Amino acid sequence: MIFDTHCHLNDEALYPRIDEVFANAIKVNVGFFVCVGWDKESSKLAVKIAEKYPNVYAAVGFHPCNIENVTENDYEETMELLNHPKVVALGEIGLDYHWVKDESKRFKQKEWFIRQINTANHYKKPILIHNRDAFEDCLEILKKETPLYRGIMHCYSGSVETIKQVTDLGLLIGLGGPLTFTNAKTPKAVCENVPLDKLVFETDSPYLAPHPLRGTVNEPGNICWVVDEAARVRSMSKKHLIDTTTKNALNLFGIKYEENN
Ligand code: NI
Repeated sequence: MIFDTHCHLNDEALYPRIDEVFANAIKVNVGFFVCVGWDKESSKLAVKIAEKYPNVYAAVGFHPCNIENVTENDYEETMELLNHPKVVALGEIGLDYHWVKDESKRFKQKEWFIRQINTANHYKKPILIHNRDAFEDCLEILKKETPLYRGIMHCYSGSVETIKQVTDLGLLIGLGGPLTFTNAKTPKAVCENVPLDKLVFETDSPYLAPHPLRGTVNEPGNICWVVDEAARVRSMSKKHLIDTTTKNALNLFGIKYEENN
């Protein structure tokens, strides 16, 4: 079964029709999900969804665009969710310089990123990293504040040359919809070159719908377009690709699962 390592089933674009979304996913062999929070409320909802559905796990944390007005109480309440047995990661956290240009706000993003990496280490959880137009600063922080329980560079948008800098830190490379875009030279080259034991798939739904559905509301079932393209680019069997990437994700998140076939 395919593992969608990063989806926002807690987003208002998906949550109201979540049963249909799961049914669509199961039909195309998507069987594992990490539902990712971006603030206190979305993290709580991610946990609620994980409690209700089998093979759905949650990640909790504060996205770099959602750190303003976070109180100490909000932080503690959210981080306490890391004790829940279905919370498998802290995320998504990181730096976003695309939407935030102001230097003092960027500084604040760094502080929150570092703080959350330390919390992840304390709770022995991997992290899900959001990096947009901030690769150098992101890497500098990760080198100093090593995520001891590893993590995923979500929606990796770097070059082939920088893959090793990321994987050397113990991180996996998450690839999704952009790999399928018709003009996506770099993501295709990345997919071809990332070591198979470092690769995981994701949708980031409801965002980043793959080609040919680009621009529509994305959902986990659409990850099969990403897997198809990855198999084509790497010239390998889909089964082997799915088995290996799902195993990579299960190992990272510490999920025990035996497939009965
Ligand atoms: Ni996301």
